[in-house]
Amino acid sequence: MTITSDTDKALYEAAEAVRRRAYAPYSNFQVGAAILADDGRIYAGCNVENAAYPVGNCAEPSAIAAMIAGGGKRIRRVYVTGPGSMPVTPCGGCRQRIREFADLDVEIVSHGVDGEPLVQTLGQLLPYSFGPEFLK
Ligand code: THU
Repeated sequence: MTITSDTDKALYEAAEAVRRRAYAPYSNFQVGAAILADDGRIYAGCNVENAAYPVGNCAEPSAIAAMIAGGGKRIRRVYVTGPGSMPVTPCGGCRQRIREFADLDVEIVSHGVDGEPLVQTLGQLLPYSFGPEFLK
């Protein structure tokens, strides 16, 4: 596994710490997400599933909720961890949720922890997207 910066090491560790507490009894696919916010702090969240499957939460909105509750306003970097060797990229809905709080050049690191991290910008993951500026 290659993680080059101190920031990414801290984000990886935060995502992994919270991933161990993920509630994913149905998929058995535990995901952790960590956000570096504009206040310099790291906010983390995990997926929380539900017996009524569609109302379960992904890890990314959990981390966004922690950021907002903690006083962060903007997302500067995102790190997502999950099982296996395939990079765990945010689902379509989560890309849009990140879009609300991040510029298009913000990097999202997707990491299946048995493999290598993949770095992509939000603009790559969600091209031609709709966002808050359309409503101003
Ligand atoms: N999941 C996330 O939490 N984030 C992602 O980026 C991909 C998928 C969760 C949702 C569900 O609890 C489980 O992974 C399987 O889809």
